[in-house]
Amino acid sequence: MKEINGKMKLTEEEISRYIDEANDILKNAYVPYSKFPVAALLIDEQGRKFRGVNVENASYGLGICAERNVIPTAVTEGMKKIKLLVVTGGTPEPISPCGACRQVISEFSDKDTVIILTNKDKKYKIWSINELLPYSFGPDDL
Ligand code: THU
Repeated sequence: MKEINGKMKLTEEEISRYIDEANDILKNAYVPYSKFPVAALLIDEQGRKFRGVNVENASYGLGICAERNVIPTAVTEGMKKIKLLVVTGGTPEPISPCGACRQVISEFSDKDTVIILTNKDKKYKIWSINELLPYSFGPDDL
């Protein structure tokens, strides 16, 4: 049993299962241009599960990252806070979310949000949003 960020407790089995679920949807990523699939599995404060992949476009700049795909989907269904986010890709090391995604993740995260960055080999590291985006700009700055 792993106690993460002082709150959420996850067993190695649960972590492994969530990583499998994220890796399972990599095949649905629409990546004809970059050939770089990314997948995100999100669990909200109500324990509901949402999935997203990156979806690219012939007009390259319109492509959307997996993380910024899953978050609006969850918000549409009423998500208030991210409890757990698993992000995976075909990288040799656990994937590193882009800066834009870190900012969007941050909007719906707090100190208890668990972020698991992983890859196809299930190599993973667990992060808090403050570690991924220190000294961030957020709703309290307005
Ligand atoms: N990508 C994501 O989906 N998430 C990230 O955090 C990093 C990058 C996608 C965008 C693009 O479809 C592909 O990976 C290559 O940049």
